[in-house]
Amino acid sequence: MHPSLNSKIITPQEAALQINNNEVLGFSGFTPSGYPKVIPVALAERGEQIRAQGEDFGVAVYTGASTGDELDGALARAGIMKVRMPYQSNRDVRAGINNGTIQYFDQHLSHMAKLVRQGFVPPPTTAIIEAVDIEVQGDTAHVYLAGSGGCSATYMMVADRVFIELNSFYGPGLKGMHDVYIPCAHPCVDSIPLLSAGGRIGKPYVEIPVSKIAGIIETNMPDQMGGFVDPDEESKTIAAHILDFLRHERQKGRLPVDLPYQSGVGNVANAVLGSMAEDPNQAPLSLFTEVIQDSIFQIIENDKLVVASGASLTLSIPGQEKLKANLDQWRDKFVIRQQEISNNPEVVRRLGTISMNTAIEVDIFGNANSTHMVGTSMMNGIGGSGDFTRNAYLPIFMTPSTAKGGAVSCVVPMVSHTDHHEHSTQIFVTERGLADLRGLSPVQRAREIIKNCAHPDYQPLLTDYLEYGLKNAKGIHTPHTLSRAFEFHTRFLETGSMLP
Ligand code: COA
Repeated sequence: MHPSLNSKIITPQEAALQINNNEVLGFSGFTPSGYPKVIPVALAERGEQIRAQGEDFGVAVYTGASTGDELDGALARAGIMKVRMPYQSNRDVRAGINNGTIQYFDQHLSHMAKLVRQGFVPPPTTAIIEAVDIEVQGDTAHVYLAGSGGCSATYMMVADRVFIELNSFYGPGLKGMHDVYIPCAHPCVDSIPLLSAGGRIGKPYVEIPVSKIAGIIETNMPDQMGGFVDPDEESKTIAAHILDFLRHERQKGRLPVDLPYQSGVGNVANAVLGSMAEDPNQAPLSLFTEVIQDSIFQIIENDKLVVASGASLTLSIPGQEKLKANLDQWRDKFVIRQQEISNNPEVVRRLGTISMNTAIEVDIFGNANSTHMVGTSMMNGIGGSGDFTRNAYLPIFMTPSTAKGGAVSCVVPMVSHTDHHEHSTQIFVTERGLADLRGLSPVQRAREIIKNCAHPDYQPLLTDYLEYGLKNAKGIHTPHTLSRAFEFHTRFLETGSMLP
């Protein structure tokens, strides 16, 4: 850090004291990566004390995506998170959303920064950002972000003041990984000049006036990311179906070898990339994705990584140690972007990205639900799944065929909430098999999905639903029977199982 900034060093409590009731706060962080870790805890403590005295205190929390428990969990448990956007995956935030105490605006991640810059949502007045270094040139500070890009550059740009947590865990070794680029504002229509997954079009830091820095807090903490479990048999089988399919597509000449991949959050996605890394026939991989997870090390160790572009390094703590130890060797293989670029529809489509995301449930006609349990309760949010699915060269959705020990079928007559509709989806995969929906009518799709993806316990029920509709519906292009469409979900709510 530039020595002229030493006078700005403060404690987290001093920063928290300056936050006002009902303020909109723009935090860094995308998954538990690169999020501030001590100011939110101090703010939660302060908020709890104020509320204990019977006074109102709350804030709106904008981030890149989900964050660590020191941010989302702490603020939610203190009862001071009033508004949250655009994505979360924290148990306590989820509880607040589902009991109505937190107003949640669940947004495509690529849209968030623009919504702020366009003034469509109230802009953050304070930005709270994790960084690895700050340089100064004249009146300008160059802030080198930590493990994630998120919406940090926009929040720092629009906010009146910026608090920076300067984390020495990675320290300046991470400098050079970020590519910070903000598209021009309409009516400007310039294209984003990114022509390859690893291209660099911006600066490795965010520029702000030094005068905006309201305080700097020094820390030394890894991101609190839970470890990945070894892939279970179900995940491995899903991965094997996807790999078979990709091989088949290459043989047919429909899949150029060097298209980049996007892979969603979680263990199944991690397992798919891990399997690709181990496949001797797999050509070296470019990732144009959102989250770079631990499977990256398998890809690097098998000499299969061309480049990994994402919005965050979503690594377990051993993964973070490993990256830190190899930063000099690997730095050039990674590009961390602002999420409006990592997930940008224009770029996703231009590059021909192959997307692989997990759904909570899919329906027989090709719609997918990524967010809601039984239609009403929010799980996490849409994240980047819509940014990628709608624009991918080849969008793939995966899900186990059942959940809750078989009491729930993840293939249903009609999804209880639609995030991705039949016009965007193309491939569904479960551990049972893969349904290729390209070029099929709704009834053809239904037959493929029931045959290839549904669990045998549910296949007769789904077939019965389809055949009943074909006999009784007025129009049979999409032969739903509205009075029966949610019979699986209703049975689950009444009896705890979708099986009769
Ligand atoms: N009905 C009811 N419950 C269901 C269900 C269904 N159809 N499908 C899954 N569940 C339950 C599971 O039983 C589990 O509950 P438990 O924690 O009580 O055991 C829980 O939901 C999570 O399921 P799991 O299989 O562990 O999910 P996951 O970690 O693979 O995550 C999503 C799946 C869909 C929740 C997650 O991928 C997500 O949030 N996606 C949206 C965002 C996204 O796609 N981002 C990608 C761009 S990077």
